[in-house]
Amino acid sequence: MELDLNILKPQERVSLQLRLLYEKAGFRQYHMGRFEEYGLYQENRRFLSSEQVITFTDLDGRLLALKPDVTLSIAKNAQVAEGGCGRFYYAENVYRPSQESHTFQEISQMGLECIGAVDDEVTAQAVSLAIQSLALTGRGFAVELSHMGFVTGLLDAVGAPETVRPQLLTCIRDKNQHELQKAAAAAGLSRQGTDALCRLSGLTGPWEAVLASAEPLALNAAMGDALGELRTLCETLEAQGETGNLKLDLSLVNDMEYYNGLVLQGYLAGLPRAVLKGGRYDPLAEQFRPGAKAIGFALYLDELDRLTDQPAEPEGKVMLNVALPKGRLGDKVYDLLAGVGYGCPENYNDTRKLVVENPAAGIRYFLVKPSDVAIYVEHGAADIGIVGKDILEESGADVYELLDTGLGKCRMCVAGPKDFAEDQSRALRVATKFVNIAKRYYAAQGRDIDIIKLNGSIELAPILGLSDVIVDIVETGTTLKENDLKVITEFMPISARFIANRASYQFKRKEIETLLKHLTEVTEQ
Ligand code: PRP
Repeated sequence: MELDLNILKPQERVSLQLRLLYEKAGFRQYHMGRFEEYGLYQENRRFLSSEQVITFTDLDGRLLALKPDVTLSIAKNAQVAEGGCGRFYYAENVYRPSQESHTFQEISQMGLECIGAVDDEVTAQAVSLAIQSLALTGRGFAVELSHMGFVTGLLDAVGAPETVRPQLLTCIRDKNQHELQKAAAAAGLSRQGTDALCRLSGLTGPWEAVLASAEPLALNAAMGDALGELRTLCETLEAQGETGNLKLDLSLVNDMEYYNGLVLQGYLAGLPRAVLKGGRYDPLAEQFRPGAKAIGFALYLDELDRLTDQPAEPEGKVMLNVALPKGRLGDKVYDLLAGVGYGCPENYNDTRKLVVENPAAGIRYFLVKPSDVAIYVEHGAADIGIVGKDILEESGADVYELLDTGLGKCRMCVAGPKDFAEDQSRALRVATKFVNIAKRYYAAQGRDIDIIKLNGSIELAPILGLSDVIVDIVETGTTLKENDLKVITEFMPISARFIANRASYQFKRKEIETLLKHLTEVTEQ
C-alpha cells in the first residue's frame, strides 16, 4: 500500500519534516515522560512562563507534575560531554494555563536545544535551523532577531532604575512610544536617555541597515558586544543565503529572567501570533552545569493546524482589516481615515452591514463592539484597531500599541458617595466593569477588596449600598454629579489607542505604517 502524505494534517506533516531536518543536522531526539518531579519546577519557577502547574501525588507519595516545559528537563538531565555541546530536539506536549479559557491547555511543541559550549558556530546553526523550520512549511514567513544585551546595556547607560525597568520594557516590547516617553520622564531619565529608548522601536528592518543605524548608538561595551554578535551571526547567515526572510528588531525583548543574549521569533503568514520563539538562555543552563551556555527554540505545532490551503489573502492589493468600534469614537476615527483616502463607497451607518470595504484603497472595516476590538486584533481577525486604553488594559491583549490618537479622552477613577470615609477594618467593596484594572490598582496598594462585577450603570452600586466605591471611567463628571457621587482618586488617563496585531505588523508593515502616518497627521492637528 502506498503512503499518501496528503492525509496528514499540517502539524503532522511538518513534524515529520522537522524530525528529518534536525536528525540530518546531527541533533538527537530527547524523549521525556509526561510527568516530572514537581520540585524541579518549584525550584526553578523563575524560568517558567507561569507558576501554575498541574500536580498530583504518585502512588509512592512523590509530588509529580504534568510537565509545563521541556527545556528545564533537558537542561537538567541531558548527557553532555565535558567541554562539548549537546544538541537535542524534542516533540512533546506541555500543559500550561490559558489566560483566555481559564483552563489548562495541552500544547504540542517541537524544538531544539544546544547546551554546553555554545559558540558562534552553534548559534548560527540553531538560528539557521529555525529559519529552515519555517521555510519547510512552504508558507510566507518572517524571522525577527534581537539581542537582550543591547536593551539591558541601554537601560544601564541611561541610568534606568531597577524598579521601573519592567514598565519600560513592556512599553518597548509593545512599540508604545507615547507611554515609554511618559514612564521614562517619570523615572527621572534625561531627555537624551528617553530619546535613546524611543529610538529602539525604529531599529527594525533588514539586518545591514539596522546594524548601520544602531552601531553609532552603542553607549557602552554591552551594547557594542551585542551588535557585534548580531553582525557575526547575520554575516554567516547571509553567506548561507538565509537572510531573505530575516529582520532585526532591536525592540524585541523577551523574558529578562530567562533570556540573556540573542532572542528570536518566527511568524507564518496567515497565523496571528509567533509560532517560533527562542534564544540564548545561559542562566537556566548554569543552574545545572556551572559555566554552561545554551540556545534553543520551540515551535508551537498546534498553530499550524489553523493554516488553510488558501493563501491568507488572495493575490492583488494588500487589504488592511480594521476593527472599528461601533459608536461615536469609531465614527470619528472613520471620518478621519476617510478624509485621508481610506473611505468606503458605502456608508455603514445607513445599513446593518458589519463589513464595508474599499478594495482600491486596500481597506476593510469590521464594525465591532468597542469592548471586542482588542480581541479581534489579538487573534488576527483584524490587523489593526482603535480601542480605548481602558478596554485594552482590562483585556491584557498582546498587541502593539502604536499610537495614542488623543481622541475620547477620559480617566479611570475611584468614586464614591460625597461623605465616603475609608474603613480600613474590613475589605472594601468595589463595583466595576473593569475587574482586572481594579484588582491591579488595589493590589499595588495592598488593600483587600471584594469585587462586584457589573456591566453598566455602575454609579447605582454605592447609591443602593451594593458597594462602598466604584472604579469607572469619568469623562465630563456629569453622571457622578447628578448622582451625588464624587471622584476619590484619579489613577489612569484614558484615550483611544491605535493597536496592531503582532504578526500583521510583520507582513503588512508598510501598509500599517502608511495608514498610521496619515492618521497621525490628522490627529495631531
Ligand atoms: C460611562 C461610565 C460613566 C459615564 C461617565 O458610561 O461608565 O457612567 O460614562 O461619563 P461622564 O463623566 O461624562 O458622565 P456609559 O455611557 O459607557 O454607559 P454604561 O453605564 O452602560 O457603562
